Amino acid sequence: IPRERIRNFCIIAHVDHGKTTLSDRLLQITGTVVESKLQNQMLDSMDLERERGITIKAHPVTMTYFYPKDKQYYQLNLIDTPGHVDFSYEVSRSLSACEGALLVIDATQGIQAQTVSNVFLAEKHNLVLIPVINKIDLPTANPELVKKQLEEILAIPADTAILASGKEGIGIDEILQAIIRHIPPPQAFPDQILRALIFDSVYDPFKGVILYVRMFSGKIKKGEKILLLSTKKSYEVKEVGIFNPKMVPEEELYEGNSGYVIANIKDPSEIKIGDTITWETGGTTSPLPGFQEIVPMVFSGIYPLNSSEFEKLKNAIQKLQINDPAITISQESSVALGSGFRCGFLGLLHMEIVQERLRREYGVDILTTYPSVVYKVYLRSGEILEVDNPSKLPDPSTIEHIAEPLVKAYLIVPSENIGELMQLISEKRGSCETTETLDQNMVILHCLFPLNEILVDFNDKLKSITHGYGSMDYKPAGYRISDLVKLDILVNGEPIEALSCIVHASKAESRGRAIIQKLKERIPRHLFKIALQAAIGSKIIAREDIGAIGKNVTAKCYGGDITRKRKLLEKQKEGKKRMKTFGKVDIPQEAFLEILKTD
Ligand code: GTP
Repeated sequence: IPRERIRNFCIIAHVDHGKTTLSDRLLQITGTVVESKLQNQMLDSMDLERERGITIKAHPVTMTYFYPKDKQYYQLNLIDTPGHVDFSYEVSRSLSACEGALLVIDATQGIQAQTVSNVFLAEKHNLVLIPVINKIDLPTANPELVKKQLEEILAIPADTAILASGKEGIGIDEILQAIIRHIPPPQAFPDQILRALIFDSVYDPFKGVILYVRMFSGKIKKGEKILLLSTKKSYEVKEVGIFNPKMVPEEELYEGNSGYVIANIKDPSEIKIGDTITWETGGTTSPLPGFQEIVPMVFSGIYPLNSSEFEKLKNAIQKLQINDPAITISQESSVALGSGFRCGFLGLLHMEIVQERLRREYGVDILTTYPSVVYKVYLRSGEILEVDNPSKLPDPSTIEHIAEPLVKAYLIVPSENIGELMQLISEKRGSCETTETLDQNMVILHCLFPLNEILVDFNDKLKSITHGYGSMDYKPAGYRISDLVKLDILVNGEPIEALSCIVHASKAESRGRAIIQKLKERIPRHLFKIALQAAIGSKIIAREDIGAIGKNVTAKCYGGDITRKRKLLEKQKEGKKRMKTFGKVDIPQEAFLEILKTD
């Protein structure tokens, strides 16, 4: 299929507006997968994704479509994009591989915060947008309102919008034809030099690193020597092909194609997403645009619960990082926790997903420390430190002041919830800069928040106040000096490093109380009394005790039911396995998880 009949596009939408369902329909109608095989949501391949209903990785798929108007076959390359704020960098890199995008909007929900920010991103990449008003099968669908929003908020002509239902299969042919009519074919570079953009990669234990590429010019085939521009490393190509939706080897990939390249790349850390592939000799020296340095926003320590499992954890984290280059890792060690890793994540959801994958897919029992943002610490000596780990905070007497990262947040919310939201915003030390009305029901708030405050549960609270109708997106907005202190949690006088956090002075006491309350609920009684304390420096600000009891769990079973006794003992053993011992006190793994959610 010649370049003129290739289209590269992606689907952008707010979370849950129906991207995946619609993608599945496109695959089905183009015969890329037969319906029986359409294992509910083909493109979301990770279990965890399916469970949480969020798309994490961008999966490209090549479809062939017969366009009845000119009776020709077209190659349509679809690149899936995630919809959650944490993953907007993945949206961005998918966009750089496309010429156009379907903008999917749920007809019952209308335009949401991520719809707007995704449209801004797409416009930055000069993509042609095709608005799709989805879920019109629902009785509460209001396509007319969405059309009005399209014109008023996004300045997109409403008559270009296609009414569709991914679920019922309405409007699918119309969408495919609009892609062919409105999205331009890939541009060609006249010099025919190999230029391919790496927009993602996965690791396969047998084949090594598999690069997902978008061909911008020239050809690539097996046996060729290629060069990666940013690392200046060269490799021999072993296989090239397309996703259909499984990997299908091809003779060659040529300009306009999206597909994969396997070269003898064994070490995934040699790959930079956004890098350009060219010839080893005679190639280009100027990289394709599209490279964006990934900046982790949230850091947490990850340690094996059982220190003998360090190697297993190391292995698992390295493997995970291969398929998720947005995680940054460095080895660290702590007196209480032994050896582990300091990991950087895009946001809290990203962090939770990584931790869950380590537990589930790799079977490592881990203990994670309280998440932290990156603080700038100005020392009296004039030195400035970046601190992403509360335990690394220098002695307070040496600190001049501490600055915390801010974000500009963009909230679209129902006007009737404004009162409650303003209260939430001020609780989170935020400020609302401007308010705009969107239509008779919705308003847009532009706010400034300390990142630290919206990390843990802001999104959940926003959803609950607005009954699911509110949404938000945010981007970094510099630093501000703030009255911050380090809060320590002590168990029998010993500080538990994993629970230390940096908080605003006004919140230290309530946070301290909440954490020790959670600990009190989760730590089982021991043979001795346990004192739980929250402290700032040497000042104790909260305290709870756990009384002592006997530990014989079988004592309660009178009579001699031996199986019951054995079961209890096994249960106790099981429970023990998931504990970490600090001094003489066993703290269950789930206590740490619970505390992460404490605000
Ligand atoms: P993320 O990957 O989380 O961003 O979600 P998504 O945008 O891919 O949405 P997905 O396709 O997973 O659909 C979200 C929910 O909406 C699911 O429960 C779907 O069954 C439902 N849904 C999707 N399309 C339609 C539609 O056309 N009509 C109706 N009634 N429901 C739909």
